Amino acid sequence: MNYYLGVDIGTSGTKTVLFDVKGNVIASATEEYPLYQPQNGYAEQDPQDWANAVLHTMAAVLAKSGADKNDVKGIGLSGQMHGLVMLDKDNKVIRKSIIWCDQRTAKECEEITEKVGAERLIEITANPALTGFTASKILWVRNNEPENYAKCAHILLPKDYIRFILTGEYATEVSDASGMQLLDIPNRCWSDEVLEKLDIDKSLLAKVYESPEITGKLTEEAAKQTGLAAGTPVVGGAGDNAAAAIGTGVASDGKAFTTIGTSGVVFAHSSKISIDPKGRVHTFCCAVPGCWHVMGVTQGAGLSLKWFRDNFCDAEKQTAKGMGVDEYYLMDKEAEQSPIGANRLLYLPYLMGERTPHLDANARGVFFGLSAMHQKRDMLRAVMEGVTYSLRDCLEVFREMNITVDDMMACGGGGSSPLWRQMLADLFNCPIQTTKSKEGPALGVAILAMVGTGAYASVPEACAAIIGTDKTCAPQTDAVPVYENYYQLYRKIYPALKDQYAELATL
Ligand code: XUL
Repeated sequence: MNYYLGVDIGTSGTKTVLFDVKGNVIASATEEYPLYQPQNGYAEQDPQDWANAVLHTMAAVLAKSGADKNDVKGIGLSGQMHGLVMLDKDNKVIRKSIIWCDQRTAKECEEITEKVGAERLIEITANPALTGFTASKILWVRNNEPENYAKCAHILLPKDYIRFILTGEYATEVSDASGMQLLDIPNRCWSDEVLEKLDIDKSLLAKVYESPEITGKLTEEAAKQTGLAAGTPVVGGAGDNAAAAIGTGVASDGKAFTTIGTSGVVFAHSSKISIDPKGRVHTFCCAVPGCWHVMGVTQGAGLSLKWFRDNFCDAEKQTAKGMGVDEYYLMDKEAEQSPIGANRLLYLPYLMGERTPHLDANARGVFFGLSAMHQKRDMLRAVMEGVTYSLRDCLEVFREMNITVDDMMACGGGGSSPLWRQMLADLFNCPIQTTKSKEGPALGVAILAMVGTGAYASVPEACAAIIGTDKTCAPQTDAVPVYENYYQLYRKIYPALKDQYAELATL
């Protein structure tokens, strides 16, 4: 029997899953790690935590499965995008990674726009300068920690640092490299023009592959630490959203998905490149060679609910432990007791600034309409609804761009909540489907490993053979207009607060 490993290096933890060639789960393991927030708007992680989690979970999965190491035919890597990992000439990590949701680089974004030119930047990188993307993080280190920048010999993304640990290769692939703001998105290669204008040495960057291509083989050292066979091929893999697309079968035009993980994303496949001139949604290369995707991002999606849980839901945590159920299950049940609109309470999920559609690093969260009659259940429901309003904002931009969506899938932790899926169906006013497999990104990159090592001829062929749909959640006709009223009010709140957010940031 042939097996394939999918590794997803997320923000809250790493999940490693072993699949057979039909995509059935043989064994899986997860390890969590901390997120450091030394200042308001900062977000960092320790690459050593990712490496430990990957090595431990790979070893655990192999041991649990009882599989022969020689039957593991390929490994795919997925992970949180945009994070900056800098290595010195001895391959030591120079500083903690500044990750995707860090918002410290507003000045560097101005510097990028000035040096490259706003229009030219969108033409080449398909996106305006964004605080979340890697280029502004590189410039921030150069401007603020010149001693660290001087030591830098290699720049890698989170999952590509793990590739280096596993294979010794400095390699990346088009979907994740798209989020660095240094890639020529139409031509799928590093942009000499952007690199020259920003004075970043190309030799610092990794070699770019298409996502299913083999990028290296497991070293003797990594084999010793994981129990896997030295020489096992590691394919390019994909950024977490491009990987989730493959894992939910979104590999052809008309197919789209919404995920609620730490961030929230609405993602549509596109065989032609399509760019929003206002830069409100990202256009990236996708994991299907020669294709692209557009994607809107809510910075604080699952992160909002996790923030609420960690600060206000100790009682639910205790009860859940006693009942042997997930605390999010209890939180869902509580939110269900509040009506649509949470008794006239709205929540703006901008805890870590916002990308789509506002592109505003200074935006912050708001409960709007709080009254003495509100209870925790209303606040919980408002958080879930607010995240869904923000995802609807992404879909509105797609509609303006004439991107047609025939099939909308749901995945991520939030996608497993029936209440959240119903909110998506009602607010998008379209059916929301789930896949039989719940492994999203890990399955996506295992599929890329299958394609890269010859088990299937192409990514769409593998998706057609492996991905099956499960439940469909239809919109409720009476709920749609009620949500619509709340959504139209939600849309008015950010513009009313925009100037005050900027003022708050100066205090
Ligand atoms: C995408 C993005 C997030 C991260 C973390 O642009 O920043 O989705 O990849 O999940």
